[in-house]
Amino acid sequence: MIDAKRILVTSALPYANGPLHIGHLAGAYLSADVYVRFQRMMGKDIVWVCGSDENGAAITIKAIKEETSPREIVDKFHELFQEAFQGMNISFDYYHRTSDELHHETSQEFFRKLYENGKFEERTSEQYYDPKANQFLADRYIKGTCPKCDHPSAYGDQCENCGSALSPTDLINPSSTLTGETPVMKETTHWYLPLNEDEEWLREWIVDGKLDGKEHHEPKDWKNHVVGQCKSWLDGGLHPRAMTRDLDWGVDVPQEIKGAEGKKLYVWMDAPIGYISSTKAWAAENGKDWKDYWQSDDTALLHFIGKDNIVFHCIIFPAILKAHGDYVLPTNVPANQFMNLEGDKISTSRNWAIWVNDYLKDMPGKVDELRYFMVKAMPEQKDSEFTWAGFQDAVNNELVNNLANFLNRVVVLTNKYYEGVVPEFDENQMIFGPSGDDETSFYDNEYLRLFDDLSATAQFIRDFDFRGALNKIMEISSKGNQILQFNEPWKMIKEDEENVKAVMNLCVQYCAAISSMLRPFLPTAAERLSQLLNFDQNFESGEFVEMMDKMAMGDSIIEPGHKINEASHLFSRIDDEVIAEQKAKLVKTEAPAVVASTPIKNNIVFDDFTKIDFRTATILEAVKVPKANKLLQLTLDLGFEKRTVVSGIAQQYKPEDVIGKQVTLVANLAPRKIRGVESQGMILMAENSEGQLSFVSPADGWEAGNVVS
Ligand code: 2FM
Ligand code: ZN
Repeated sequence: MIDAKRILVTSALPYANGPLHIGHLAGAYLSADVYVRFQRMMGKDIVWVCGSDENGAAITIKAIKEETSPREIVDKFHELFQEAFQGMNISFDYYHRTSDELHHETSQEFFRKLYENGKFEERTSEQYYDPKANQFLADRYIKGTCPKCDHPSAYGDQCENCGSALSPTDLINPSSTLTGETPVMKETTHWYLPLNEDEEWLREWIVDGKLDGKEHHEPKDWKNHVVGQCKSWLDGGLHPRAMTRDLDWGVDVPQEIKGAEGKKLYVWMDAPIGYISSTKAWAAENGKDWKDYWQSDDTALLHFIGKDNIVFHCIIFPAILKAHGDYVLPTNVPANQFMNLEGDKISTSRNWAIWVNDYLKDMPGKVDELRYFMVKAMPEQKDSEFTWAGFQDAVNNELVNNLANFLNRVVVLTNKYYEGVVPEFDENQMIFGPSGDDETSFYDNEYLRLFDDLSATAQFIRDFDFRGALNKIMEISSKGNQILQFNEPWKMIKEDEENVKAVMNLCVQYCAAISSMLRPFLPTAAERLSQLLNFDQNFESGEFVEMMDKMAMGDSIIEPGHKINEASHLFSRIDDEVIAEQKAKLVKTEAPAVVASTPIKNNIVFDDFTKIDFRTATILEAVKVPKANKLLQLTLDLGFEKRTVVSGIAQQYKPEDVIGKQVTLVANLAPRKIRGVESQGMILMAENSEGQLSFVSPADGWEAGNVVS
């Protein structure tokens, strides 16, 4: 529970080298939007900042690919992001960009302070250099096999498959993404943050919630998967991390520092400082002091991110902030996991995504519908799934049949029976309610239960359980429908007019409560509903809190005598054809991710080739290598001898599936020990763009031991 005077919320700065898809929305933006809108309604002093992440090597890579300049790339995506966020009603207080001068100054100042306080270690080391391109290779310019999960296309700073943060030298078989060359090592000087010295306090802060010996936050408030990821980082040991790069696009290392020429800040140092620059820009425009939000103990800092950013927000950025010394550390990092799409991972390179800008064009007026389904399927604790069928079902059966149906019936009946005037009623009237004991369930009883449900919804939001909160609101709507269904005012109106008044009055209160509580989730629909009810709450001046207080006392939200407006539909059904059309748009481009983006290596001469002895072989036995979930130990029959080979195929093949398979072996590769087992050769595997593997086999029935040339 956050009781700080101010809350500063950040959402991951989207990287300006590709458009936003629903996975991004589900990760860092929609959740934060719900949270911030709710806290604003609660009258909290809350500020939400974001902006485009426009520095770093991936921008230049994109520019090279598109034969344009980094500036054009970042301008294009910055514009698209703003369109997408506005279209989805994502209500940042400020949306900045890291190519802005203010950001460059802010990051340089930060770097300078750390430098002056002796927080960096200056190290001259050998780093990867592409002799063909004539430049040092920033992490993102190097690809290779991830040492943690064996994914073949990990970057030099991170494996996007398993989320591990990496250093370029961790990669197995590195290659330059610029030329395809195998990079060579060359000397360069950089400034490193000795993260190894931070392990102890980071552990105490993350695991026990203590900072400098004082209580900082409740560790149980952090999501398990966030703490779990941090612990495994810490258990693995932290290492000094370079905070600068040899690059030509980004924030310059302050030039007065000796050796700064040609060096830029590491993008993961400058990007989170983007939160500070964005707050500064917001404060300047709003007559506030940005320091109140970053440098005061009265502030709770919350980072909304996707799980691939956990290490940067829970370990690296906190270490940077602490090294500076003047800043607060996050009170919570409510990271979400990933949202998959129709049974597969969302992938930009394979075009397997629903692009937010496309959705807004294709489905005009259906923003709340998407928001609804995205919250319903939000990957809060584990990966989740977006399917178009699920989306259609949620809209038609939940928004239309449950929510809109209830709200519409109440507005129509109130107009029909009372010309839209909320009726006065006798408090002694009995109402059949879903949660009471049939006839003993009075107006007060059902009304107080409504208050309990609203309070529970609010608590779910405070706990970052947005799915739980939305579910609760839909429960309130179902209960409203049940009240109508149990009491059947359309029948009762002839026999017991007084009772219908009590029922309809209660239902109007339900609608008003829903219109308020729905606002953080479905702001457009909630606004239209409050117009229908002629119930205009001024959230900024705390009327929501007043409403909750009134309810707690048993007072009505909407008084008898209040006139509501005529009914109009809030949601409409989504037809099969619309869904079919959207599904048809989902075509996986079998991306050239590995095939085309891994250029052909340099020529070799024929003699080089003839040095390699390829043989056909048959797999006789296969067992898993203990404590290595990627490795199988294979016994191969070469016809004239047996060999033991360790191969990284265990993720795709079970031992029992490979026995009897014919493979091709590099038979004269010098033996080497892998996990304690001597591997006497290597089997050839083909690999597609998704990292799937296939044996390179001779035709069926071939015996083992044949020469391949
Ligand atoms: O993962 C990303 O897209 C990064 N651009 C997130 C940066 S978050 C922050 F540190 F700025
Ligand atoms: Zn990996």
